[in-house]
Amino acid sequence: MTEAEGAATFRNATDMYGRFIGRYTPSLAAALIRAAGLEADSRVLDVGCGPGGLAGALAEIVGQENVAAVDPSQPFVSVCRARLPLADVRVAAAEELPFEDDSFDAAFAQLVVNFMTDPVRGVGEMKRVVRPAGKVAACTWDYREGMTMLRAYWDSAHDVAPAEAAEFDEGKNMRYATPEELTALWETVDLAEVASGELSVTVQYEDFDDLWAPFPTGLGPAGAFCASLDPEQQEALRAALSRRLGDPKGPFELSARAWYAVGSA
Ligand SMILES: C[S@@+](CC[C@H](N)C(=O)[O-])C[C@H]1O[C@@H](n2cnc3c(N)ncnc32)[C@H](O)[C@@H]1O
Repeated sequence: MTEAEGAATFRNATDMYGRFIGRYTPSLAAALIRAAGLEADSRVLDVGCGPGGLAGALAEIVGQENVAAVDPSQPFVSVCRARLPLADVRVAAAEELPFEDDSFDAAFAQLVVNFMTDPVRGVGEMKRVVRPAGKVAACTWDYREGMTMLRAYWDSAHDVAPAEAAEFDEGKNMRYATPEELTALWETVDLAEVASGELSVTVQYEDFDDLWAPFPTGLGPAGAFCASLDPEQQEALRAALSRRLGDPKGPFELSARAWYAVGSA
């Protein structure tokens, strides 16, 4: 299968990603970039770029030519490459970045550290490819509380399938989802002047179905849990989530909090 064909087969999932997490990406990327502090003439790396929301925000500041991006998912890489044809977008994991030491002024990872196979190695690689005194910055959702959509979803899952939800709740399972854990990771890989804090964003939904649609497709850990339920449980979960969100009939908005860490290489 050619890369273009691969990207085509993933188009629905990519669209769903846009409706699921991608709708949060532009404002979250802007907040992360602000927290890290980025100069216009920088060369930057987006690690775990997905379809390229953060890479696109970076390109608006430094120009596509000064952006590199990696993701282990070929379909995501194809979408990101199509979006930013002048950027250097490659299939790679954080743990083995295909770049020389000191190649970048800053490296970012948005909603990725908690998915890395080996976060110490992955963030260590981000430090390696950033020049001395350059920035390494990342953020992860506050799965335990402030990411309203996912928290309401898992709380509803506990109502409907308590034993299963207790096992798969991202609020319990996700690592590096507190500022303390992120800070400790940044210090473990010897990043200096580590700062951490919160990033808050708000997104709009057309209606409840707009929010619900990605879950039964199996996208992400929350979607995988939804897809594993039988149709009756899925419907009960849908109803429980709607109730928790106040049974919205039309457009509504939700807030989401992420934690960030930034340090100097
Ligand atoms: C929640 S998505 C975030 C995508 C994008 N950064 C964004 O903000 O929309 C998580 C991404 O991490 C990628 N990922 C998973 N394991 C990874 C690893 N070891 N190194 C780099 N990226 C990884 C996934 O392929 C996926 O694109």
